[in-house]
Amino acid sequence: MTERTLSIIKPDAVAKNVIGQIVARFEGAGLKVVAARLTQLSQADAEAFYAVHKARPFFKDLVSFMISGPVFVQVLEGEGAILKNRDLMGATDPKKAEKGTIRADFADSIDANAVHGSDAAETAANEIAFFFPGMQIHSR
Ligand code: CMP
Repeated sequence: MTERTLSIIKPDAVAKNVIGQIVARFEGAGLKVVAARLTQLSQADAEAFYAVHKARPFFKDLVSFMISGPVFVQVLEGEGAILKNRDLMGATDPKKAEKGTIRADFADSIDANAVHGSDAAETAANEIAFFFPGMQIHSR
């Protein structure tokens, strides 16, 4: 099934100048970028985006990390895009991420873990609407 998922290249990976290398992995796996922009999240944006984690002990650090520099937000489209993106990213904790995954290759810690990807169809729809409301998606 053709799906869409939200991907964020986080401030650590943007600072390392590896946006292109990460996008190349998505494209190499058959995912298409159908919307994208570089943006600086405000504290309110980051808190709203990660609201599901509000009660978690890592919430404060997560929010301050996500606003520490620009992020590259994009919608990826393709066959089984949600799971495909998660496989490409590897485990949340880069120490546990399989060799050859984005997090194994580019991430430094569980906070500075290079990328975010939607975890299920419902969250993908919500996360895409959060960053790309309206007509900014270009399927082809
Ligand atoms: P992400 O996929 O963006 O979703 C929430 C983020 O919280 C996660 O990636 C990690 O960067 C961060 N995080 C920090 N500590 C933890 C933890 N113990 N479990 C899950 N996520 C964590």
